[in-house]
Amino acid sequence: MNKKIALTGIKPTGNPHIGNYFGAIKPALQLSAQYETRYFIADYHALNQTKDPDVLSERIYEIAAAWLACGLDPEHNLIYKQSAVPQTFELSTILLAFTPKGLMNRAHAYKAMVQTNNELNKDTDDGVNMGLFTYPVLMSADILLFDADVVPVGSDQQQHLEMATDIAEVINRNYKKEILKVPQALIHKDTGIIVGLDGRKMSKSYNNTIPMFLPEKKLRKLIMKIVTNSQTIEEPKDPDICNVFALYKLFADQQLQEDMKKRYRAGGLGWGHAKQALFEIINETISSFREKYNRLMADKGYIDDILEKGSAQARELAEQKLVLLRKEIGVR
Ligand code: ADP
Ligand code: TRP
Repeated sequence: MNKKIALTGIKPTGNPHIGNYFGAIKPALQLSAQYETRYFIADYHALNQTKDPDVLSERIYEIAAAWLACGLDPEHNLIYKQSAVPQTFELSTILLAFTPKGLMNRAHAYKAMVQTNNELNKDTDDGVNMGLFTYPVLMSADILLFDADVVPVGSDQQQHLEMATDIAEVINRNYKKEILKVPQALIHKDTGIIVGLDGRKMSKSYNNTIPMFLPEKKLRKLIMKIVTNSQTIEEPKDPDICNVFALYKLFADQQLQEDMKKRYRAGGLGWGHAKQALFEIINETISSFREKYNRLMADKGYIDDILEKGSAQARELAEQKLVLLRKEIGVR
């Protein structure tokens, strides 16, 4: 029997961080055993924000290197650049014809910008480009083009996945046939939202991230900045409401977690101690990733080769799907 397909993309909009790793990269790579996998760099999604060509180009390498450093094996996992699969944009045009504008009006990112504009008494659509407005359609094309069964993402992407499902269903209903596979979001309840330095969702847009591949010293300095309350060293502390412990849990096995909880509850553990323990466990976990990442970033020709090979394969699969779709909708 054919394996099911898992697909996900990451936008090259800045250094990959721990939230990206636990929310998207790690769960995606864990699926490699049971699924056929398709992972890509969503560079045209990033163009909405990043208009400097050198910056965009560097960030594309960073995301490719992150996937590879975290364990993606290009022999077994397809990895490609969205921009190198032009069929994505043809499918996106098809999807636009079936997407009610009202659906896009409800997209979180767009709504948030409108709300901010209204609060600042600016024009409703100030700073909103059509790439941002139609973002969920392009993302739907990424997914539907490759017949993805499951899409591992963090919970912030749930609405986008629901939109992809809605659009696929409208099209299937119109042609009275399942011409598009209806995808499912795969959101882990423990890693759906990783907290950042300030306790909010870790996100580049909040400037509260712990980048994955920071050098040791910088990593320690950043971890020492995690926001905690003002309890004294002696006071017993509650691990379940602590940002430091929320991050520690991601890296520690069950036994280490239990030991740390006891230390919290016993009193005598200061925030500096807790942060040092967190730094050590993160550093230990990522040091081999970091080494590999640095080696890859120093050999961009190698990354180019891998992306070119993957993208050629992705184009072949995409063209097969488009040949069918063009026939079904009557343009060919
Ligand atoms: P950012 O919010 O920092 O811009 P992206 O939007 O580029 O991150 O996210 C890339 C992937 O990583 C998505 O699948 C997203 O759901 C996941 N992700 C990002 N931040 C987090 C987080 N704090 N917790 C869990 N998953 C996350
Ligand atoms: N929108 C996703 C994010 O911001 C990135 C993305 C683009 C994506 N296309 C995708 C994720 C397709 C999963 C599937 O993180």
